[in-house]
Amino acid sequence: MSKYTQDKNYIYYKNTNVPINKLNIRDLKTLEEEERKLLLEGYKYFHENLTDSTAFDEIYFKELQRKTFHKLYDFAGKYRTVNISKGFSTFCQVRFLEQTSREIFKKFAYENYLKDYSTKPKEEFANKIAYYMCEIIALHPFFELNGRTTRLFFDLIATYNGYEYIDYQGALETEDGDNKFIKASIDCMIGNDSQMNQIILNGLKRSE
Ligand SMILES: Nc1ncnc2c1ncn2[C@@H]1O[C@H](COP(=O)(O)OP(=O)(O)O)[C@@H](O)[C@H]1O
Ligand SMILES: [Mg+2]
Repeated sequence: MSKYTQDKNYIYYKNTNVPINKLNIRDLKTLEEEERKLLLEGYKYFHENLTDSTAFDEIYFKELQRKTFHKLYDFAGKYRTVNISKGFSTFCQVRFLEQTSREIFKKFAYENYLKDYSTKPKEEFANKIAYYMCEIIALHPFFELNGRTTRLFFDLIATYNGYEYIDYQGALETEDGDNKFIKASIDCMIGNDSQMNQIILNGLKRSE
């Protein structure tokens, strides 16, 4: 079978939405708990290993997911080989994925990976983060864990510049099922990053 005609559900156990995992956990709640633990460890590891010479490039971005989740998933850190949609949104076609990603990260490198924002106005930093976050959201490069990996990436860039991790407080799913981050992501698909900008601006706080 060509990799472009793979069943898009093949990373899940048959007839479920549970991703095939190395611990063979079949219960979504248990799996989410495991993911939560690994994500926390990932934050700790990458935070401790930030240095002046850290380049927030494509290799680093993939490595965030690989190192954080490889104990659980074979797909961790690898770009997807299947087309994916969520709701009415269809993310970047697989055949354009590598190239589009390279373009985004090339532009990002040209901006020195947003490493020079510690002394600039917060609004400018929020604008830039929102722009690139939207680009990566529309790319949706991984099979799974895109949201968490993308937020981890920008959280590390935020701390690099003397900010706390971005506080998404009411923006991620709330009690009543509202999810501002998803709404903002839907706008990202048409290149409108103003809702995302608002979320980032609200969530950026300088470290003491
Ligand atoms: N309908 C949608 N339109 C555009 N983007 C969406 C939509 N639904 C979800 N997303 C994006 O996809 C992300 C979730 O992708 P996923 O790979 O499942 O990551 P995670 O498991 O970490 O949440 C969300 O954080 C959001 O950015
Ligand atoms: Mg998910």
